[in-house]
Amino acid sequence: MIILAIETSCDDTGIALIKASGKKLAKFDILSNIVSSQIKVHQKFGGVVPNLAAREHLKNLPICLKKALKEAKNPKIDLIAATIGPGLIPSLLMGANFARALAYTWNKPILGVNHIDGHIYSNFIQGIQNPFPSLCLLVSGGHTQLTLMKNHGKFKLLGETRDDAAGECFDKIAKLLRLGYPGGPIISKMAEKGNPKSFNLPRPMIKTKDYDFSFSGLKTAVLYLVKDLKKRKTKFTNSLIFDLCASSQQAIVDVLVAKATRAAKEHRVKTVMLSGGVAANDELRKQLSVKCQLSNVNFLVPSKKFCTDNALMIAVAGYFKYNFGKPSTDWRKIKANANLRLENW
Ligand code: KG4
Ligand code: ZN
Repeated sequence: MIILAIETSCDDTGIALIKASGKKLAKFDILSNIVSSQIKVHQKFGGVVPNLAAREHLKNLPICLKKALKEAKNPKIDLIAATIGPGLIPSLLMGANFARALAYTWNKPILGVNHIDGHIYSNFIQGIQNPFPSLCLLVSGGHTQLTLMKNHGKFKLLGETRDDAAGECFDKIAKLLRLGYPGGPIISKMAEKGNPKSFNLPRPMIKTKDYDFSFSGLKTAVLYLVKDLKKRKTKFTNSLIFDLCASSQQAIVDVLVAKATRAAKEHRVKTVMLSGGVAANDELRKQLSVKCQLSNVNFLVPSKKFCTDNALMIAVAGYFKYNFGKPSTDWRKIKANANLRLENW
């Protein structure tokens, strides 16, 4: 079947077309995967401005659709999948309503997809056979969650962040170091040249028995460290910035790897699946992969371009939800929800 997917939960306009076949061992041909980034629009504000994001989606959606259809050679569409939450409501409404209008005018079935399902299912783009039970570590700008997945659409949330998400922590540290937006890719690039042991930063909640996280204290610790360095008239050379980036990154990676590894052992999973924008981080990919190898657990992570927001992952999640859940496919039932939680289907 051919699926058209639409993703507008934050500041990326995504439209993808895939050809999907099979059930448990599903296979996907990517016909087109268009992502229009709004980084340039939001950069000067140091973060995403929701109303500006909505305006950009409104402008970009028809352009991306035209491009996606042309690249895919105008296939006959069988199903539409649209992100309905969680995310910024002005952004979500643009994509969800655009998708509803298409479903109505083309008279096609449409289903709503949870953005978190999308990130988790980005691991299935490569076509994997029964990875269950699986531990999913989702790390993005909006979420940091550890979820146990026993089968398709069967999720149990083990823990999540109590304040800032891991990606948010990267972004805030980059902002206070005046490095630019989004911070994750900039920090990881600079960290390559720094020493992760130069500064002794906290690893919040690393020893707690639960699977929750907290990253706002780490950002504050970096803020106080910078203030202290300034007070002592330290010169902010490139090498000092590289060391600050490497030390901050390692503190985040240590907490994520420690908790994911412990959860994987306790729940005796077959696979660990990493996903979300922060999953594009090389050190996190490397260090979690090594720990999984040592524990004899399979490690999966999507290629970097599928870690940050895209509509391809929404198409793949939509396909499994269509096959394994009993979703409504009526356009009247498509409703955006900024606070949508992970739900079983
Ligand atoms: O999944 P995503 O595109 O959007 C959300 O759903 O939030 O994730 C965006 C987040 C941003 O916070 C960004 O700084 C972070 O992912 N990110 C990274 C890297 N690439 C993107 N964080 C660390 N290292 C990276 N290489
Ligand atoms: Zn996302």
